[in-house]
Amino acid sequence: MIQETATPEVRLDHPIRNFSVQLSPTPRGARLARLLATEQLRSWEIPLDPARQVAAELAANAATHGRVSGRDFRLTLYVVADTLRIEVTDTCGDRPPCPQDPTPDAESGRGLVLVEALADRWGVAQGPHPRKTVWAECAL
Ligand SMILES: Nc1ncnc2c1ncn2[C@@H]1O[C@H](COP(=O)(O)OP(=O)(O)O)[C@@H](O)[C@H]1O
Ligand SMILES: [Mg+2]
Repeated sequence: MIQETATPEVRLDHPIRNFSVQLSPTPRGARLARLLATEQLRSWEIPLDPARQVAAELAANAATHGRVSGRDFRLTLYVVADTLRIEVTDTCGDRPPCPQDPTPDAESGRGLVLVEALADRWGVAQGPHPRKTVWAECAL
């Protein structure tokens, strides 16, 4: 008996949009994260703001507060349906981010406040040990 197998036809409105890069936890690594995120958004024809600011803040935090000498951090961007997800994974899982309530003249402590204001959702996922991932989602 001849069996016909129908090949499902899958049509994608967009090609799969997924980008990931490993960077050193240094000012240069943080700067590269910002530049690469910007370029990626541009090539996907996604509005640059607010996603690039969110990616820049999370990368800056990974390179400073989440820094472990000799271990890189990872920036991942991907699009699912109409949401852009930004993930920054560092190897300092035992130290969680702690959003602050900066005083008006404080020079630091605004990064996560900004992420909270700009992203639709954000959070932290622990593991696998010793990693943690700080993620944020922006509706497109
Ligand atoms: N990836 C991270 N790993 C560990 N601690 C973090 C991380 N991101 C943020 N934090 C903690 O949360 C605090 C608030 O972060 P943020 O609002 O970006 O302010 P700032 O970076 O200016 O201190 C930081 O001072 C730090 O203690
Ligand atoms: Mg910060």
